[in-house]
Amino acid sequence: MGKVTISAIKADVGGYVGHSAVHPDMLAEAESRVREGIGSGLLIDGKVGACGDDVNLVLTHELGVDAEPVHRFAWDTFAACTRVAERLHLYGAGQDILADAFSGNIRGAGPGVAELEIEERPSEPFVVFAADKTEPGAWNLPLYKIFCDPFNTAGLVIDPKMHGGFALEVHDLFESKSAIFECPEELYDLLVYIGTPSRFVIKHVFRKSDREEPIAATSTSRLSLIAGRYVGKDDPIMIVRSQSGLPAIGEILEPFAFPHLVAGWMRGSHHGPLMPCAVAESHPSRFDGPPRVVGMGFQLADGKLVGPRDLLGDIAFDRARQIALEITDYMRRMGPFEPERLPMEEMEYTTMPQVAEKLAGRWQPLEPIPSALPAGAARSAVE
Ligand code: F6R
Ligand code: MG
Ligand code: MG
Repeated sequence: MGKVTISAIKADVGGYVGHSAVHPDMLAEAESRVREGIGSGLLIDGKVGACGDDVNLVLTHELGVDAEPVHRFAWDTFAACTRVAERLHLYGAGQDILADAFSGNIRGAGPGVAELEIEERPSEPFVVFAADKTEPGAWNLPLYKIFCDPFNTAGLVIDPKMHGGFALEVHDLFESKSAIFECPEELYDLLVYIGTPSRFVIKHVFRKSDREEPIAATSTSRLSLIAGRYVGKDDPIMIVRSQSGLPAIGEILEPFAFPHLVAGWMRGSHHGPLMPCAVAESHPSRFDGPPRVVGMGFQLADGKLVGPRDLLGDIAFDRARQIALEITDYMRRMGPFEPERLPMEEMEYTTMPQVAEKLAGRWQPLEPIPSALPAGAARSAVE
């Protein structure tokens, strides 16, 4: 068998009820399409899942990353789910189908995509994470902890295969540029960027010895940057391979025991804690949230998907859920004030500028303040 590609592709094509979940009929439609895809020989295997109002497809095949037939298949599946959503008058039917027609690649057309083309190992465990009510940069902190932080990942200290560290590829979503940072040597350089997750996102992680075959991949599309206006949030997906010289499953899950603050809650305009939860509980409710993350564990068997196992549903994450709810109470009390509400620059991609535009005439220039200082006196005190 040659290389196998794992394609994790997600889209919000209709919510049940509001933006809280996906209707079972949409999942049934996607499952029947996936069965056809396997039957026709296009796919080796495929599983359908959901996190909040997003349908996710985990597909395996031999056609590589960015394969037109696989992307077309996902596009057609989401279009079929959209028709189900329309029939049931579900909310926001077809929301993430931004283009009028499929044009060769689903990236940039609305749905989120993370793909890995790999040489399947004798045993190939990996996790697909999906999140709702947040954005791709939400993966920065967990990926940093998994691949760069020895307080999270014991293997960075103990396992000779991991001791040398990893290389992380970062994308600048505003300027369409990418850079690779080798860690731990360039940790501080990496952190200059990934601490701004609205703009810089970790796209791939590599073994240092192999820049060809990534061991983790994320979806990085930001719909507002594509559409130039607010069109819903870019709930992200990612794939992380595990074990045998890579972080253990427990090291990959460990960062999610800390519900870090992410952007995207309510109207894509608020910060909230990323709450780990079981797939069956990934239904945003309170204030359309709090943001959720699920972890679906798989083993590959000759390209077939054995799984998923619902990893973040475990009781070991109960306390993280509790902490997330406490943070929720705290953050909500800030209401429309920053930093509960996103900063002004980020609100550009919401509907708030339309409100501000109506109020623009209300603002009158201030009288210039007469300066009490002689010219040139306003110098820096340290000069
Ligand atoms: C957040 C989200 C929801 C909606 C909110 C308003 O990512 O999807 O919080 O923004 O429910 O939705 P509309 O404007 O569609 O009524
Ligand atoms: Mg939605
Ligand atoms: Mg969503």
